[in-house]
Amino acid sequence: MKILVLNGPNLNLLGVREPEIYGDKTYAALIGKIEQEAKALSVEVTCVQSNHEGVLVDTIQQALGVYDGIIINPAAYTHTSIAILDALKAVTLPAVEVHLSQVSEREDFRQRSFAGMACIRTYMGLGFDGYIEALRFLKSYLSE
Ligand code: DQA
Repeated sequence: MKILVLNGPNLNLLGVREPEIYGDKTYAALIGKIEQEAKALSVEVTCVQSNHEGVLVDTIQQALGVYDGIIINPAAYTHTSIAILDALKAVTLPAVEVHLSQVSEREDFRQRSFAGMACIRTYMGLGFDGYIEALRFLKSYLSE
């Protein structure tokens, strides 16, 4: 079972970026935690981060025929990118949306998620654990 974990803009700055919202742990620490859980679940993960919408779209397109599912935190593109929504719909891979923060309790402009419209589940406000929950959910979903 192969899962693609895709992170959008500014998530490479975890640990530095608004720690009161996103915590003080780094992107490298996040990847370490995801890889550790993937190993425990016997799932193969590839983690990709990009600050560029087109790269995220390309990466989703290239997942077709390679990965069994996608975990995606599109970051700010969540709220703006129809291109990412369309890419997720195009590949029809089961996708799970993750947000570190509790987006539903933040600014109005964060209340719409385009990517979420193509996802079977969303985890938000759980910090790094959201990715772990997403991984466990996708593993059991794909095992059914
Ligand atoms: C985020 C929430 C988004 O609104 C924001 O633009 C991000 C991170 C989160 O993980 O909480 O960059 O996706």
